[in-house]
Formats: sequence, structure tokens, C-alpha cells
Amino acid sequence: MVVAEPLLVASAVSKHYGGIAALEEVSLQVRPGEVHCLAGENGSGKSTLIKVISGVETPDSGSITMDGKSFARLTPRQAISLGIEVIFQDFSLFPNLTVAENIAMATYVAGGRRTVRPRTLRRIAAEVVSRIGVQLDLDARVEDLSVADRQLTAICRALARDARVIFMDEPTTALTWREVEALFAVVRSLKDSGVALVFVSHKLEEVLRVSDRITVLRNGVVAVTGDVSRFDRAAIVAAMTGRAFTETSPADSARAGAPPVLEVDQLSLRGYFEDVSFLVHQGEVLGVTGLLGSGRTEIAEALFGIIPADHGTVRVDGKPVRLRSVHDAIRAGIGYVPSDRLTQGVFLDQTISLNVIAGSIDRLVGRGNLLRRGKAQQMVERAAAELRIRMSSASATVRSLSGGNQQRVVLAKWLVRNPHILILNSPTVGVDVGSKHEILEMLRAKGRDGMGIIVISDDVPELVAVCHRVLVVRRGRITDELTGERLTEEAIVKELVA
Ligand SMILES: Nc1ncnc2c1ncn2[C@@H]1O[C@H](COP(=O)(O)OP(=O)(O)OP(=O)(O)O)[C@@H](O)[C@H]1O
Ligand SMILES: [Mg+2]
Repeated sequence: MVVAEPLLVASAVSKHYGGIAALEEVSLQVRPGEVHCLAGENGSGKSTLIKVISGVETPDSGSITMDGKSFARLTPRQAISLGIEVIFQDFSLFPNLTVAENIAMATYVAGGRRTVRPRTLRRIAAEVVSRIGVQLDLDARVEDLSVADRQLTAICRALARDARVIFMDEPTTALTWREVEALFAVVRSLKDSGVALVFVSHKLEEVLRVSDRITVLRNGVVAVTGDVSRFDRAAIVAAMTGRAFTETSPADSARAGAPPVLEVDQLSLRGYFEDVSFLVHQGEVLGVTGLLGSGRTEIAEALFGIIPADHGTVRVDGKPVRLRSVHDAIRAGIGYVPSDRLTQGVFLDQTISLNVIAGSIDRLVGRGNLLRRGKAQQMVERAAAELRIRMSSASATVRSLSGGNQQRVVLAKWLVRNPHILILNSPTVGVDVGSKHEILEMLRAKGRDGMGIIVISDDVPELVAVCHRVLVVRRGRITDELTGERLTEEAIVKELVA
């Protein structure tokens, strides 16, 4: 086999933020037509490396070489003109423009034309869309698209600008598994056309399936790089964490005969879900799964008073509760960690401390309505240690944290409140494999302490590992309950697609 010359080379790139070395002499080679995975624990420097290569951040030292030409730094515009594209998590699309306009506008304007002819835009867009063989409605407005289609639009825009290396930072986190399959088909077709893809993922099955090569970062340095065929799951985790690691699933069972903490009886919300009834016992972790649009998220949102149900009853610790608003839900002892944490869960520009205690201020004020600082600090420190939040100090902003550490702040905020029932929507999305296990273990421990836990997820292995029981929701109804022997990955997948 002839090994292609690298297309893009980052050499000895360093980047510090204050006292923290996000990257230290990191080198990366990307070959044409390869799928290259960037792996590493939360905070290891993956996103920073992508930002430096794409010109979003300026490196302290090192160089970036594309087609044999070296640069000490790039501007975003230079990077794009060299064929380096990043699909950011927010996709940076214009929501009120059409798919065709988003895909073709930049190319068209860069061509120096002054008038925009819709027909030309459409032709450019249609060509790119057909090149990677996807179905996209060119005339739809981006704001009306699903996350998966927005992502495809961003990929098509990159291709319209002649991308040769496309970076994707955790592209599959917001997708359902069916959409992930569709994305991988696109990845394969890009690869065949010689475009290189560098992607970040915490899902190792995914990495092993689609990548040709892998680079693992650990604490800002390259721990290992090489052909994926040389690695298995354990080897990647060992490179990430620097230690041998066994993933065992906790095998305890919920206390038999424990009283229910939550009783949901015939809950309905027209158009979303109907006749939903279930119990959560003390010490139990209940899973709820279903495809996108099945109603699983709406059930959670109804229990948290975001979109109140229009029929049915809910009891917490045996007492009926009214859930007409979020305020009602919190007062009833229900907590909710949303899936879209970055927009719903945190104040990015506030400190980590403030975010963690934001929901518990009532418990932290003493005489004269003064905040008891010592107690607040203790609360923050304990939560940060429990969730292993990697931060320079608790007074840093949440924005300065890596993605996975931002997620932990949202979890911390709810855990310190100690609700009777905690509903978590996709709790470990974006969390590295090592910590995922720890977070799940911690949820089980909270369960043992008496908290009722509901995990909404479509991460099937995770459901099997952490839940005592899993409810499957289809078209707004609970269609199955899997427990004991029947609680297996195969059974869940089978029920999901049935
Ligand atoms: N703007 C910033 N200000 C201060 N520190 C930052 C900033 N951006 C990143 N960092 C720090 O740099 C380190 C690397 O962060 P980075 O976002 O690259 O991690 P990551 O590997 O992408 O992690 P994750 O898997 O959690 O997304 C972290 O310690 C982070 O707190
Ligand atoms: Mg990141």
C-alpha cells in the first residue's frame, strides 16, 4: 500500500490559557482521503487543536503546513481558502435563509459576483448535494430543519467551498443512531472523493468503525497516534487515561419492595403522548428510550412543568402534585438536566461556583438574607470533586471549560439540590468514556441514597449498564418495559425499530 503524503501537518503546536497548557508541542498529520479520529478525555485539548488549525485561536508556537506551505498562524479566512473547514457545533448557518442559499452563498459571493441569482445558487447547491448522495430540500429554511439536516447543510457548504480537510467536533452527539448511520455514509463518500475528515468522538465503537487513523491526546500532549487497526477499545482508553481500565457494569438490583418515589398515572398531552403510566421506586434508576419524535423528551418536560400535561396525575412520595410550571416541579422535588445543556442549562459567562449554587440559593442564605459563603464554597468544592470537574478555579467562567466539563457543571447544579427525583436527558453525551462510567456509578449511588432517577437516552449500552428497568416509548405511548433477563442491548434495539 502506498501511503499518501500528508495534506495537512500541524507541528509542535502549543497553546496556553493563563497558566493552563491546553496544547503542548502537539503534532498531527492528516492524509488526503483519510478519516482521522481525535480522541482524549474531557479537557485534553481536542477542541483547542481544531481551533488553532482552523484559525479561530492563535497558537503560542508551532506551525501549520498545508500543501507544503507553512504558516505560524492562520486566520479563519486563510484556513478556508486553503481548504480547511470546521463544522462547528452550532453549524454557523443563517437560520432564515434556505438550504441552497446557505450552501452556495459564500462561494458565489467569493466569485466576485454582485447580483445573486437564485437559479445559480440552486444549481451550485444541487451539484454538491448530489455529489455526496444525500436528500436535502434545497428550498427549506434552515430554521425548519432537524439537527441532522443542518449538519448536512454545513458539510455541503464546506464542499461548495472546495474543502479538502473537514474537521468535525463531536458530530454525532446530537444525532439519533439512525442519523449517525446516514452521516457515516456521507463520511465514506467524502473519503472516496479524497476529502480528509478529522472528527472528535467519545463513542469508541464509532471511532473503531469509521476511522483509518487515530490520535489520542492526554493533558495537552499526543499520547499515541497510529492506524486504528492497531487498537482495540481497551488500548484507546489506556492511552487516554494513562492507566489500565476495566469497564464493569454495576450488578446490584433495586431494593425489592422499596416504596415508589414517583407515580405517574395516565399522563397525556395531546399530540405528544398518551396514557403514560409508570412508577419509579426508591433506589431505582429507570431508563426511558425512544426514537426522536417518540415523545420521550416531552414526557420529561411535562414532569418538569415545562409543557404541562393536559391529563393524568403525578404523585411524589405518595402525595399528588400539580405540575403547571417549572416552579411547581422544583417545589415538588423534581430536578431536570436537559439534553440541550449549553442553551438551557448554564450561564456560560458566569463563574462555575455561581452556576453550581444557582439553584440552591434558598438553602444557602442565613440570617439577614446573607449568603453563607463558607457553606456555598463547600458545596461547590464537593460537587466539583465528585464530578471531577477539570477547572483552574471555581471562579473561572463556565465558557472557559472544555465541552465535557461544561456538562458536568450542569449535572453538579442539580445534584447539589438533592431532589427527590432527578430526570436526566442524555446525561453522558460529550463525557469521555472513563468519566462516563464514573458518572453513571455516581447516579446509581444517589439512587441507593434514595433519589429516584430517570435517565432518558438513546445510548443503548449505557441504558443497559446503568438502569434497573427501561421503558420504550413509541409514538407517544409506552410500548414495552424491559427488565431483568430481558434488559439487553439487542432487546432494546429490536423494540426501538419494531
Ligand atoms: N477560552 C478558554 N479560556 C481558558 N481556558 C480554556 C479556554 N478554552 C479551553 N480552555 C482550557 O483548555 C483545556 C483544553 O480544552 P479543550 O476544550 O480543548 O478540551 P477538549 O479535549 O475539547 O475536551 P471535551 O472533550 O470536554 O470537549 C481545558 O483545560 C480548558 O479548560
Ligand atoms: Mg471539546
